[in-house]
Amino acid sequence: MLGDVTPSLADAARRAARRTGTPLLLTDLPRLAADAAAVRAAFPDPWLRLYALKANGLPALTARLPALGFGATAVSAGELALAARAGFPPGQVALEGIGKGEAELRAVVRAARMGSPLLWTSLESAEEAAALARVAERAGVRCDVLVRVNPEVAPETHRGLAVGAVASKFGIPAEELPAVVEAGGGPDGPLRWRGIHLHVGSQLGAVDAWRSAFRLGLRLLALRRAGLPDFDTLDAGSGFPVAYGEPGSVPPLSAFAAVAAEELAGIAPDARPRRLAIEPGRAVVAASGWLVGRVLHVRERDPRLVVIDAGMTELIRPALYGAEHPIVALTSRGAPVPEGGGGEQVRTRVDGPVCESTDRLGEALLPPLVRGDLVAIGVAGAYGTAMASTYNGRPRPPEVGWDGSGLHLLRARGRRSALP
Ligand code: LLP
Repeated sequence: MLGDVTPSLADAARRAARRTGTPLLLTDLPRLAADAAAVRAAFPDPWLRLYALKANGLPALTARLPALGFGATAVSAGELALAARAGFPPGQVALEGIGKGEAELRAVVRAARMGSPLLWTSLESAEEAAALARVAERAGVRCDVLVRVNPEVAPETHRGLAVGAVASKFGIPAEELPAVVEAGGGPDGPLRWRGIHLHVGSQLGAVDAWRSAFRLGLRLLALRRAGLPDFDTLDAGSGFPVAYGEPGSVPPLSAFAAVAAEELAGIAPDARPRRLAIEPGRAVVAASGWLVGRVLHVRERDPRLVVIDAGMTELIRPALYGAEHPIVALTSRGAPVPEGGGGEQVRTRVDGPVCESTDRLGEALLPPLVRGDLVAIGVAGAYGTAMASTYNGRPRPPEVGWDGSGLHLLRARGRRSALP
């Protein structure tokens, strides 16, 4: 094993690099299926598992998820289109997110009018409730909605990912719920009030904030159900972390499932929500993704400085959040790195090729490297190419899937002619 790279995966990455050139994103498809199965095992039916498309919306990948027991959440008309291309049935796709404009509201109502309504729309404010109600009323349809409540907790995560903290821009404080229902036309208007949507934040380092939010969601549902006959759903969002470093460095999915079970056990059966949902993104796609780049420069300093041809344009997480990803060498002086690492390992800083000093991928112990050697950054399948940019005139990287033996081109490299 080279870190988490098995010899056959390393070989696949070298073959992919020869085939498409670098940088490229390689997805270990059996690992993706195993990670999706792990989410399903922790949150089995009747939990609704809605994959958060924002983590990686590539239809060639996400098309595998409906058969693995997942619906999806989309945050824009664009993501609704990606969900459709991937084959998620509309009734298993929720629309949420703080960026809904008229195009999104019209898409919700169009789906309802065509007899294939979305699972629900999660509303972020009284204005949004009023706007959707207007469009729905005009079209003569009723739409299922949740209300996104800001749980106002202290999420155990990076400041930039703590969306459930007090004064965040996401959702409403719990006490505004009646005003949102009113603005949306009341209990019998064009919106069918189905429940509460929460999202504490991403990549949680502990389960306590998630527990507080889940408990708040259950309380709100029980409280409001009397006046809203269909108020039966709690969507607990995500927060499920992946280990970017040592395995076991973050709470497992089972710890979150246990919290939910404990909180549900604490209330009367008839007060429990009839539908429960989660929205994992990275837990499904992060670990199977590998960003593969080629060495451009080696500077023998302390630590050794290496610049590769993959960087913040393909994986912005280190620059944006100080995220640390595993880094391994796939070749050393042009030869495949043998199991165990090969050659003398020295502390190496790996930087990207973009004209920004924050374009740094991280540090790792790596064997001797020369220009042309291949390096891979692990756990890059979520918020990697999904957040890619063409800064510095860099086309989007190709995406390759490895099925355990063969390679499949999932998306070709972006065209230079499509650059601004
Ligand atoms: N549900 C909601 C309402 C969300 O806002 C998010 C992520 C998710 C689910 C999925 O979260 P996940 O399971 O993937 O952690 N670019 C950042 C992450 C931003 C997350 C935004 N919302 C990163 O690279 O870590």
